[in-house]
Amino acid sequence: MKITEVDDYQAMSRAAADLVVERVRSNPQLILGLATGSTPLGLYQHLIDDYNRSGTSYRHVTTFNLDEYVGLSEQDPNSYHYFMNQYLFNHIDIEKTNTYIPKGNAQDLEKECSVFEERLKEHGGVDLQILGIGGNGHIGFNEPGTSFYSRTHLVDLTLSTREANERFFANLNEVPIRAVSMGIETIMESKEILLLISGEKKRDALHQLLHGEIDESFPASILREHPNTTVIFDKAAAGGGK
Ligand code: F6R
Repeated sequence: MKITEVDDYQAMSRAAADLVVERVRSNPQLILGLATGSTPLGLYQHLIDDYNRSGTSYRHVTTFNLDEYVGLSEQDPNSYHYFMNQYLFNHIDIEKTNTYIPKGNAQDLEKECSVFEERLKEHGGVDLQILGIGGNGHIGFNEPGTSFYSRTHLVDLTLSTREANERFFANLNEVPIRAVSMGIETIMESKEILLLISGEKKRDALHQLLHGEIDESFPASILREHPNTTVIFDKAAAGGGK
């Protein structure tokens, strides 16, 4: 794992955007894995700014998102479909038909998982996967205890994850209890991974990622075995600064 400490959230977002833009420019047909949540918002804003300023094109880029809540339609403002349109896709020249996000309201969710895996395989897998991390070490929605050999699957969200995401909903009862998530083995097959960690709430998670055991009780720990992972974290996550 390549580890980079930067001053703050803005510096993390800038460094991440520089890396993504470089990869898109050197491979205009990049298969880009995307995350939602608060962490990548700054990165996405930098990508939009770069698109407006320098015209980096996403016309031939294909994206695969990590996860989606079960039960929410694509139009639901809390769905990750909506999130991606709002914070990235509507502001760059990507073809929506080249963006894949698991459908949380599919009739047959098991089938949706295998269709998603199939699409990924057809595209030759993810070239660069963006990740955030949960306070409990989850990546995607792979909660502690998830097999390192998991493929895209249906997951029960832990109470701590639902509480962490409650801020986006009216109240805890509104937060879905299940999600579809890329599996850990699926994520590990990405050719390159960029993990972003910011803020003091992620302090313990960062510490455990860097110093803890590689164990299914802390899903992100498996990234230490990935041959091409970069972690960019800020001082607040490292235990100093803001
Ligand atoms: C989101 C995802 C999650 C988040 C994690 C951190 O697609 O897969 O693993 O990356 O929950 O969320 P934030 O960034 O909101 O702290």
